[in-house]
Amino acid sequence: MNGEAATDGVASSTVARQRWRLLSRAVASYGQGKSVSVKELNSLTTVRQFCQFGLFDITEAAGARSADEFVEQTWQHVDHPEIRLQLYLRQRVPATACLTPAALGDGNNNSKTTNSSIIGSNQSGNGNNTGNICVWPSEEVLAHYVIAQAKAGELIPKEFDGDSGIRVCELGGGLTCLAGLAAGAALRPRLSHLLLTDGDQLACENAARCLTANRQILTGGEDQTSRIEARVAQLAWEDADFDKHNYGRFHLVLCADCLFFRESHRALIRTLDKLLMLPTPAATGSNKHRGGLALICAPSRGRGVEDFARLAEAAGFDVGVSDNYDPRVSQTAAAEQSASFVPDLHLPLMLRLTRR
Ligand SMILES: C[S@@+](CC[C@H](N)C(=O)[O-])C[C@H]1O[C@@H](n2cnc3c(N)ncnc32)[C@H](O)[C@@H]1O
Repeated sequence: MNGEAATDGVASSTVARQRWRLLSRAVASYGQGKSVSVKELNSLTTVRQFCQFGLFDITEAAGARSADEFVEQTWQHVDHPEIRLQLYLRQRVPATACLTPAALGDGNNNSKTTNSSIIGSNQSGNGNNTGNICVWPSEEVLAHYVIAQAKAGELIPKEFDGDSGIRVCELGGGLTCLAGLAAGAALRPRLSHLLLTDGDQLACENAARCLTANRQILTGGEDQTSRIEARVAQLAWEDADFDKHNYGRFHLVLCADCLFFRESHRALIRTLDKLLMLPTPAATGSNKHRGGLALICAPSRGRGVEDFARLAEAAGFDVGVSDNYDPRVSQTAAAEQSASFVPDLHLPLMLRLTRR
C-alpha cells in the first residue's frame, strides 16, 4: 500500500462515544413508520453532524419542495462554477433509512455494521437504504476531486488521449450519483459513456431522475445525445453476471462511502476488476497502458479502508491511500475543531487502484 492513511483511534474519544450513544437512543425512540427530518437527524448524530465540506454552493429552487418529499437543489462547484448539477434530495429521512442501534457498534467505532444490520436493507437488490438518506461527505469530496483533477487535465492519463471517448462508471452512487455526474460534466466533451449504478432500486430511481435533469450539462446543450451513452443501472456487486458487455470497458470507476460493508469487500473488488479497462500487453510498445483507474473515497472507520486495501492488493491491484490529496479538503479538516469532527469517521481517504 502506498501513501499514508489516518487510522488512529481518535474515534474512541469520550465525545464520540457519547454521541454514538445519543444517536442510538434517538434512533431507538423513533417508532416504526415515523420519519426523522434531516434537520433533527443532523442535530443528533455524530455521523451526520459533520455533513459537508462546503465544496459546492447549494441552492434550492423556489417552490422546489414537491409533494413527493423530495427537494430540488442546484449544486454549483465552488472553484468551477460552470459545473452546476441539479439534484433531488429527500426532505425527510424515512425511519427505515436510519442506522439501527445494533448497526452503530459500541461507540468505540467497533461497528457491527453489515448489510443485514442496516434497517431497510431492502428486498430490491443487494444495496441498502444508506444511499437514500443524503449525499454523504465522501460523495461530495469525490465529486469535487474528480472535477479538480479533470480541470487540471490529470483525471484521465495522457496515454488514453487517443481513445475515441472516455467511459466512466460509478458504483454504489446512492440517490444522486453526484460523483459520476460531476466526472461526466467535467470531462465533457471527451465523455462517451456514463454508467451510474447502485444496488438499491429506490436509489437508482432517484439517480435516474438526477441524470435526466443533468443531460444538458453532460451534452453541453449540443445535439450529442447520440454520441454520449448515459444511463443508470441497478448493479449489485454480488451479481457475477451483470452486463457482460461492460467488462473491461471503463477508464474510470468511482465509488464513495461503500467500504463499511466489510462482507462485500471481495464482491466490490471483483466488480472493479471486471469493469476496469484491461492493461494493454507490454508487447504493444508505445501504446501500452496500465488499464483503468478506480477512485474510492471513504473514511477509515476503524480499519475498514486498510482491510479493503489489503484485499485489493492480494487481488492484483496497486493501491495508493492518501489522507492529503486535496488542499480544500485538508484545509477544512484542519480548521474543523469541533468535537463532532472525528477524522476516523469524517475525513474521507482517497484510494487509487490500478492493476499491477
Ligand atoms: C453509504 S451509501 C453511499 C451512497 C453514496 N455513494 C454517497 O456517498 O452518498 C452506500 C451505498 O452502497 C450501496 N451498496 C451497498 N452494498 C452494495 C452492494 N453489495 N452492491 C451494490 N450496491 C451496494 C448502497 O445501496 C448505498 O447506496
